[in-house]
Amino acid sequence: MSDQHNKDIDHITGVETTGHEWDGLKELNNPAPRWWVWVWIATIIWSIGYWVIYPAWPTLSGNTKGTLGYSQYTELEASQAEILARQDQYLSSFEQASYDQIANDEELNAFAYAGGNALFKNNCATCHGAGGQGAVGYPNLTDDDWLWGGELADIEQTIRYGIRSGHDEARISQMPAFGRDELLEKEEIESVVGYVLSLSSDEGADASSEGAEIFANNCASCHGEDAKGGRDFGAPNLSDAIWLYGGDRETVYETVYNSRSGIMPNWEGKLDENAIRQLTVYVHGLGGGEGVGAVVEEVAEIAPDVIEDPMSDAIEAVENVVEEVSEEVSEVTDSSVDASAEPSVEEGVEEEAVEDDTTTE
Ligand code: HEC
Ligand code: HEC
Repeated sequence: MSDQHNKDIDHITGVETTGHEWDGLKELNNPAPRWWVWVWIATIIWSIGYWVIYPAWPTLSGNTKGTLGYSQYTELEASQAEILARQDQYLSSFEQASYDQIANDEELNAFAYAGGNALFKNNCATCHGAGGQGAVGYPNLTDDDWLWGGELADIEQTIRYGIRSGHDEARISQMPAFGRDELLEKEEIESVVGYVLSLSSDEGADASSEGAEIFANNCASCHGEDAKGGRDFGAPNLSDAIWLYGGDRETVYETVYNSRSGIMPNWEGKLDENAIRQLTVYVHGLGGGEGVGAVVEEVAEIAPDVIEDPMSDAIEAVENVVEEVSEEVSEVTDSSVDASAEPSVEEGVEEEAVEDDTTTE
């Protein structure tokens, strides 16, 4: 504050100045606007209320808790409780429903599928791939080529007890290591491998070959006389050109020489009953499920946006652009090419547009 006798009044406005001056411009000492002062006071009051209600000040033992008792942990707990409550609504009926009932109940089906999808990503995708498409040594679960069986009960048994997992109830079978354990000579292995490869070749197999005889004596007991596989042993179909470990001569030789014995963990005890059943419904619905419950189609009806190809919108948009552009092109050619010019230019463009239509659909 300046001294009384230094008081400088701006003679245009009659308002006192602060005494600050820049190149002849003087700062007037106007009071702050009333509204501004009130907002300022209100924020102060607000902040005091906030300090009281919410956790705010750091203390030696953490921070003040606030009278509301709010924290992000309690918020998380509340939202989890809400999710669990929503699940409970389905869980109790899901627990009691048979697979048949689930297949016929849209809501339970969608519930199983959604839960199974999440469980699959967390527990199975590392080996079987995010979509269940499989990898070398890990079977594709989306096709109908099953090692052990594709009915709901088969799938549940596989998931529950595993394959060669060490569980008492696990599915077990052991293809002998024909080379390592000297059950067959190298030449014999070579000829039976040749026979196995011929089974899925275009030329077809020679049933009178040496390889065919070796197969009948050593392999048919598990893989079947016709080599179409034996589910009791988890022995793959060798005639369909779908390979678990690979179908080139070297890989098949390696399989027969050393055998493979893939291991699928058991999930009983690691996942609860409902999780195992949700997974069963999910895997069954991936595309190759046998027996009751055409799951994926039913779910597709309830949740088309989940199942629908996300590219379809994009494809449609491209289609529209192609159509518009070709219309414009034909307009341009219409007006710029005079009537005597060859009509084939325009026809060509239209034909192209039609072709695009059919190929992108
Ligand atoms: C550590 C790798 C691994 C994990 C994790 C795994 N699997 Fe497997 N799974 C395998 C292997 C290996 C096989 C094939 C075993 C064989 O040679 O018979 C298999 C086979 C299967 C089969 C039998 C396929 C058929 O053709 O009969 C099903 C069904 C299956 N798995 C489902 C699941 C589900 C569901 C999960 C998650 C809960 C899961 N797997 C997790 C390795 C795994
Ligand atoms: C005791 C039953 C059994 C016998 C006998 C047996 N296999 Fe197997 N075979 C299996 C099983 C089980 C698998 C696949 C699972 C694994 O080992 O991971 C398999 C897998 C294979 C595969 C791999 C297929 C693929 O998709 O990659 C080939 C090839 C094969 N067997 C050939 C033979 C031939 C050739 C013989 C006879 C010389 C034979 N097997 C005898 C049980 C048998």
